[in-house]
Amino acid sequence: MALGKLMKKKIYNLINKKNKSKIVSLTAYSKNIASILDDFCDLTLVGDSLGSVLYNYKSTREVTLNTMIEHSKSVRMGIKKSLMVVDMPHNTYRTSKEALKNAKKIISKTKCDAVKLEGGKKIFEIVKTLVKNNIAVMGHLGVLPQSAKNFKYKGKKVSERNKILNEAKLLESAGVFSMVLECVESSLAKKITKNINIPTIGIGASNNCDGQVLVTDDLIGLNPINVRFVKKYSNIRNEIVKAVRNYSKEVKNKNFEEFISTELFSNKQFNSKDIIENNNFTLINIWSSWCAPCRSEHAILMNLSKKTDLNIVGLNYNF
Ligand code: KIV
Repeated sequence: MALGKLMKKKIYNLINKKNKSKIVSLTAYSKNIASILDDFCDLTLVGDSLGSVLYNYKSTREVTLNTMIEHSKSVRMGIKKSLMVVDMPHNTYRTSKEALKNAKKIISKTKCDAVKLEGGKKIFEIVKTLVKNNIAVMGHLGVLPQSAKNFKYKGKKVSERNKILNEAKLLESAGVFSMVLECVESSLAKKITKNINIPTIGIGASNNCDGQVLVTDDLIGLNPINVRFVKKYSNIRNEIVKAVRNYSKEVKNKNFEEFISTELFSNKQFNSKDIIENNNFTLINIWSSWCAPCRSEHAILMNLSKKTDLNIVGLNYNF
């Protein structure tokens, strides 16, 4: 394999999972979701599926480089451990020169670990150029949303099976460290997985692959659309509906405070009623019991509060 210097630890670890343990992967489009996935996923993908999931585009072809970069910057903030891969959007890798310029831009702006490109023979030289320039590349075969006319399963016809298998081998020889197999018929997924030395990560391509990637919004039930091959692990929409319904009720009933303070560095919450008495000013003193100057200051303030009308609240913060 021609990865050379790119054999970063995370990529090595991912490749080493082949034939040992299945690779867990999901998509993330923003920081908060990414930070949850990071504890469980080997690979977090900023997929251009965000075009349909978030922006209601008819296809991923409308996703721009800047949109991918902005979402990836947000995702980066949520990721500490997993391998972060960013999709290169449609029309950003038509030639090796264009691909190199745009891949460098994505990597420098988002600090991602790798980029993903769709295609086989057509992108062979492009992948080689990126890899030669120390850019880690993930492949994507089967249904290719950036150019697909339909989303029918691939691999029923012999000619199609041979083409996809050959392209998988070709991509491996160009230096990709792994590849997505999207909507590939299960026996073909098995054959490809057996015939290459890098991991295959399936989406709608059976557990014959070395791992699976799904769109998180589908799996948690945030996306109202049902996707045929996705098991819904929760219905987070229902939870959000409940929370927003309660919030709406409380606001309408004037059952809300103007100011809710979260106690620093803990999860405890208290509201303004607890600390503002009789509409007087309240002095909030944040102190630590291990800090000698804080202790004497705190004692002085507590004394003062007894002698005056001043409302003083002490927040004891110990770390
Ligand atoms: O864009 C995306 O989310 C993807 C996955 C479906 C593999 O490419």
